[in-house]
Amino acid sequence: MSYHSIICSCNFNLFFLLSLILYYLSIPAAFAIPKTQIGKTPVIFVFGDSNSDTGGLAAGLGFRINLPNGRTFFHRSTGRLSDGRLVIDFLCQSLNSSLLTPYLDALSGSTFANGANFAIVGSSTLPKYVPFSLNIQVMQFVHFKARTLELVSTGKRNLINDQGFRDALYLIDIGQNDIADSFSKNLSYVEVTKKIPDFVTEIENAIKTLYNQGARKFWVHNTGPLGCLPKILSLSPKKNLDSFGCLSSYNAAARLFNEELFHVSQKLRIQLTDATIVYVDVHSIKYDLIANATKYGFSNPLMVCCGSGGPPYNYDVRVTCGQPGYQVCEEGSPHVNWDGIHHTEAANKMIASRILSTAYSNPRVPFDFLFRH
Ligand SMILES: *[C@@H]1O[C@H](CO)[C@@H](O)[C@H](O)[C@H]1NC(C)=O
Ligand SMILES: *[C@@H]1O[C@H](CO)[C@@H](O)[C@H](O)[C@H]1NC(C)=O
Ligand SMILES: *[C@@H]1O[C@H](CO)[C@@H](O)[C@H](O)[C@H]1NC(C)=O
Repeated sequence: MSYHSIICSCNFNLFFLLSLILYYLSIPAAFAIPKTQIGKTPVIFVFGDSNSDTGGLAAGLGFRINLPNGRTFFHRSTGRLSDGRLVIDFLCQSLNSSLLTPYLDALSGSTFANGANFAIVGSSTLPKYVPFSLNIQVMQFVHFKARTLELVSTGKRNLINDQGFRDALYLIDIGQNDIADSFSKNLSYVEVTKKIPDFVTEIENAIKTLYNQGARKFWVHNTGPLGCLPKILSLSPKKNLDSFGCLSSYNAAARLFNEELFHVSQKLRIQLTDATIVYVDVHSIKYDLIANATKYGFSNPLMVCCGSGGPPYNYDVRVTCGQPGYQVCEEGSPHVNWDGIHHTEAANKMIASRILSTAYSNPRVPFDFLFRH
């Protein structure tokens, strides 16, 4: 992407653009980064589904998530649906920042000085007024912000102040469940595609509401190739598989959703001129991981690590990961998929590193750059 298109598509102010160019030219950091900005705690707010839930469902609904979830890295169940860290955890660690606490975790002891995670397993954009839809998560954020600033005004310390909310990054990763739920209601492909604009409008509304709350930096993940998820593959009639064994209709719906989301991001950059909105093509990263699994050191990308039933998917809806009778692959084995829907820590690490590469971002703004400017 040329600098010309950066100027046109995102309305960065001149200082930002200059800083960006200096960054790419690797001018010594002390020169490119204003000194006052160094050492600030990066603040991140996350909205989404199980791809980003770091314990919200467990805290919010008391839903039990058992080992072997969390067996890697944490060595205990943290409420994450994976053997270890999620993409959002790796993104936090890339900033040397602490991992995000779920907003609903009453016993965390956290003051949420580095942000809060509103993402909850199973969340979708619609229906709108059902916990924990994107709209509800944004309403929770609005409450969180008002309450935090109220406490700040009474002199409480170690809380995010007004400037902190303004400088924070707002990450959104949602949509996969909207598409999956639509197909599971037995809607045809055409019927599903007719619902997609409404899903994306909810994301647009969320960004606008957050913007009106003072948010200026947005990081929006598109949705992955859900037609490659072993759970979906095992529960659907095997027709229209692509050359990698994924369901074409699901992936085509995901791509349509992503096109719509891309257009909305572009539209919002024009409307919200002082905002930075980075759209990240996570779909391509995940599809590449399936298609070229061996190249990245993985094997059997459609075969679940933690499940039951054996090949081709090792997924049985009656005996899922952590439920009586499940079997789990050896730690360190090269699986992409953990439980039929979610990725392994190893896959999440690879996905996060590709996200951080900026090669899949539009505009190509480095993740850590957003916290210094
Ligand atoms: C994180 O820490 C490592 C090791 O100390 C350092 O090399 C890196 O620059 C730090 N990254 C950020 C974004 O501060
Ligand atoms: C789903 O739709 C197909 C084709 O319209 C129909 O044959 C089938 O019975 C439906 N299944 C359910 C569970 O409604
Ligand atoms: C697989 O890798 C090849 C070679 O790098 C690349 O051209 C292709 O686009 C990749 N496939 C997918 C589906 O990303």
